Amino acid sequence: MRPRVLRSAAEAAAAAAALPVNPTTTTTTTTTTRSIAAMYASPSSSSSSKSIRFSGGEFVRSRKANSKRLPRYAAALTAARFSARGTTIEEDEEKEEQMKHLRIDQKGIVSDAGVYTTKEEKMFLKNAIQLKGGKNAFILGIETSCDDTACAIVTKSGFVVSEAIKSQVSIHENWGGVVPTLAKEAHQNAIDDVVEECLRKAGVTDIGKQVSAVAVTVGPGLSMCLRVGVRKAQKISGEYGIPIVPVHHMEAHCLVARVKEEEWNANSEEEEEEENGGVAKFPFVALLVSGGHNVLLKVEGVGRYTILGQTLDDAIGEAYDKTARLLGLPVGGGGGPALEKLAKEYEEIVLEPRREQCRKETEQEAHITDEVFEKIVRKKVKNPIRFTVPLRKRKTCDFSFAGLKTNVRLAIEKHLGAVVDESKPEQKVLPSENWDGIENRETRAAIAHAFQTAAVTHLEDRVSRALEWVESDGVSPTCLVVAGGVASNQKIRKKLLQIGANHSIDVVFPKPSWCTDNGVMVAWAGIERLNLALGVEKPVPRNSEAFAKDEKDRDVQVRLKPRWPLGEMDERAIGEVKSSKVSKMARPLGSSD
Ligand code: KG4
Ligand code: ZN
Repeated sequence: MRPRVLRSAAEAAAAAAALPVNPTTTTTTTTTTRSIAAMYASPSSSSSSKSIRFSGGEFVRSRKANSKRLPRYAAALTAARFSARGTTIEEDEEKEEQMKHLRIDQKGIVSDAGVYTTKEEKMFLKNAIQLKGGKNAFILGIETSCDDTACAIVTKSGFVVSEAIKSQVSIHENWGGVVPTLAKEAHQNAIDDVVEECLRKAGVTDIGKQVSAVAVTVGPGLSMCLRVGVRKAQKISGEYGIPIVPVHHMEAHCLVARVKEEEWNANSEEEEEEENGGVAKFPFVALLVSGGHNVLLKVEGVGRYTILGQTLDDAIGEAYDKTARLLGLPVGGGGGPALEKLAKEYEEIVLEPRREQCRKETEQEAHITDEVFEKIVRKKVKNPIRFTVPLRKRKTCDFSFAGLKTNVRLAIEKHLGAVVDESKPEQKVLPSENWDGIENRETRAAIAHAFQTAAVTHLEDRVSRALEWVESDGVSPTCLVVAGGVASNQKIRKKLLQIGANHSIDVVFPKPSWCTDNGVMVAWAGIERLNLALGVEKPVPRNSEAFAKDEKDRDVQVRLKPRWPLGEMDERAIGEVKSSKVSKMARPLGSSD
């Protein structure tokens, strides 16, 4: 579960102050306040007047915003800053940036031994896996990017052999968000046991003989958390001499839709070889919605992702959590389920009887559309509450939930008479005793329903447009994949199934435990990359610093990609993301990574 990341000590303390019971643990956190959504940002975000876009794999700096304001001659002067090499200063900077990435890539992200690059090396890798069981070879996956310490073993042909997970919900619950330092500590305390449990369940007694590779999330995510998983993977790789596959967290979320949900059978060797990816076949469109992610992707193959749209501010799960908190609902493990339940209550108790009445009244009027019908129903409700669907005027696939959160706050003030002062944390949450006592229950349910209706319609709008865009590109998606914690919402499922039907494509929802952060998705993303020998790294050398030191050693430098766009932005997308820092962003993941 990833409600939101508390970035500053002040924020964590403020959140804690709003709680009935303060956790006793003290903590220090980093001082930046950007939301986790920004970590998944595309490099096209414009934190200043100068924006940077990726185009065809190259940086293109756009100075449009600047040149509008500058007098023409000044703009010409700016453009004419040539270096001694005869190239512009900007071109030099871009080249240097690209070289930097190239150097890192050749080295490998997590192993100093580098990547299997040549034909011979790739053949060696293939043979090594073949020797360890071929399609039944075990791949270990490790995930520690946020607040779940997760591990899994998946066979090369995509059967899940074992899983283990240690959730940190109870640790962060009282803080109203993820506290990075507490998360790191919890990962450090859990990682050995989680990996051990997973190996035991799979009957692995000798990692060197039975495990073919270890895949690990290297970004995006919280650096201090990612480091714990990467250090563990480095240890295993170095100790047993097995290759290591660095995995992009979002790629893993996306590709898990291709994992078989059937049970693994160790004797399946004789069965006919089946094509991997029995569920979601390429190309497909993916909507990833959770507390930390909100992105729409065109997925054309492993490493071939285009960001069609992403959130400009908050992720939908974050908005669900905040709304639930404001309404005084239980938010342990995320406020989404409680909010969904309350909205459903409003549907059943308030709207359904009125619908029934309307059906009788409009029986003769066959031409009435669903939309008009719903409008008539709402007219029958006393003091109906409605929120504007975000970004309706922007014909893009981007998302925004900040405005909706403000609407909720204003509605609470107006209809419940509660003043929600954001600067005073103790006032951010309506007292939940009122909720249990059913005080204003109908009004609260109306707000929950209005929020959900606008949020879900926003998703529908964006997904429909994404499918249109992809189809107009001449790509026929085989399905729509919907993953992330929010994908368990029944209303969202129903509405997106309808969108899929309108476009004559299947909608694939990976099973809930694989929608939220888990080890299976990492192991599987590793397998997909192993199958293509994409970015697979040679075992961590035993004499390297990474191997020599203990996992708990905080001083070891580990190369991570905490800010790492999954792909390039579609040129129709806006993709500005609040407070993202372009300079710290890794090059987008591509098929060559
Ligand atoms: O994927 P996830 O477990 O964790 C990450 O954010 O990575 O997603 C958790 C988010 C929370 O914001 C939670 O409130 C939301 O998913 N969620 C839901 C529902 N179940 C979980 N949101 C709406 N409706 C639900 N039924
Ligand atoms: Zn995730």
